[in-house]
Amino acid sequence: MSFPTYNTDKSTELFARATKVIPSGVYGHLGPAEGQFIPVNKWPRFSEKAEGSYFWDVDGNKYIDYMCAYGPNVLGYCDPDVDAAAIAQIKLGNCTTSPSKIMIDCAELLVDTVNCADWAFFAKNGNDVTQAAIMTARAHTHRKKIIFFNGFYHGVSPMVQKIDYPGVLPEDVANAIYVNWDDIDGLKQAIEENKGEIAGLIAQPYNHGNFNDNSISSKEFWQQVRKLCDDNGIILIIDDVRAGFRLDLAGSDHYFGFKADLICFCKALANGYNMSALCGQEFLKSTVSGLSYTGSYWMSAVPFAACIATINKLKALDAPKLFLEKGTALTQGLVKAGKEHGFDLIASGAPALFYLRIANDNSLLLHQDWVAECVNRGVFFTSHHNHFINASLSDEDINRTIEIAEEAFKVVAKNHPEIF
Ligand SMILES: Cc1ncc(COP(=O)(O)O)c(C=O)c1O
Repeated sequence: MSFPTYNTDKSTELFARATKVIPSGVYGHLGPAEGQFIPVNKWPRFSEKAEGSYFWDVDGNKYIDYMCAYGPNVLGYCDPDVDAAAIAQIKLGNCTTSPSKIMIDCAELLVDTVNCADWAFFAKNGNDVTQAAIMTARAHTHRKKIIFFNGFYHGVSPMVQKIDYPGVLPEDVANAIYVNWDDIDGLKQAIEENKGEIAGLIAQPYNHGNFNDNSISSKEFWQQVRKLCDDNGIILIIDDVRAGFRLDLAGSDHYFGFKADLICFCKALANGYNMSALCGQEFLKSTVSGLSYTGSYWMSAVPFAACIATINKLKALDAPKLFLEKGTALTQGLVKAGKEHGFDLIASGAPALFYLRIANDNSLLLHQDWVAECVNRGVFFTSHHNHFINASLSDEDINRTIEIAEEAFKVVAKNHPEIF
């Protein structure tokens, strides 16, 4: 079978219009400035509609979407059960002066579902809750310093950005301590050097950073981290914004066999309806109550209705098992197809959030070329970010993805005679 390349002229035209009135045209992670779409014209920049595993761009091209809106699409776009719950709630009210009682139902469901959760505090974006978690750790311990594992991404508030980023002041990150992943000796040393000054340690459940192969930490590593935090009065915060509900519905800390003090959720919570949640253990509830921290839309009812429907459906489907099976079938198929065409494709991280890299050259150029050829034939990957499996992805989608990937391998091999 052959897969013709897509025309993205309308996207290009719209992008030119957008850059006149919107900084970067499409800014942040959905736009081309983050180096995930190279060359840019092989990617769609605007979508027209979405359903299940697919979205269609403004030129009418259909994509099997492995970015899932960078995570929120967990059940499938426009999931009928989630949308029905949201529509029923919108008729009752959404952003109201007194919040809807559905907020309590939602908190109770999270407390029942998430292993370390005795309470839930709601906001909108992942950054809202990672920042709240750090503030909670500081308020509770009356200490300033926070440990981060290198390669982290916890959002965009200055306290979690890097010193050389525009607009970030040295004092914003003056209390940040950086340690390498899986480096228990480095962690011990950092704690020793800052004894009695460390409020919290914030970490993703494993290293799912961009531009590098992803690596899964061991349960032993996490046990040691937990013990070091306990011994030194450090609040252990798990940033499950990206991986949450994809590895384990009880939280990724549960998946790795430990209990976080605070856990941050966002992307998979409500299948695209806008909400995030900070959950945590009982001893921190009164500290969170004391924060000066709220937002205009944080207690809106529609996302709570969507969240309840999403979590119940994820449970009914045993979604983490599905994600593992589908992610494993897909990545094994891609790696095998690569091998058959002379490519050393490495799939790393959790299969539910697989990260891809062609390792034949160190420049990443070959990898970027292959990803672009896949995208331009209907498989939406990004160049240097982990991907996501959603529950509606079918075996047929997986097979078609592997066929398109094979064609892309052939094209790249032909374009790079110096390597093949
Ligand atoms: C691990 C992690 N933490 C925090 C965030 C920030 O979430 P948001 O973009 O919703 O503010 C992200 C977003 O990609 C993330 O992946």
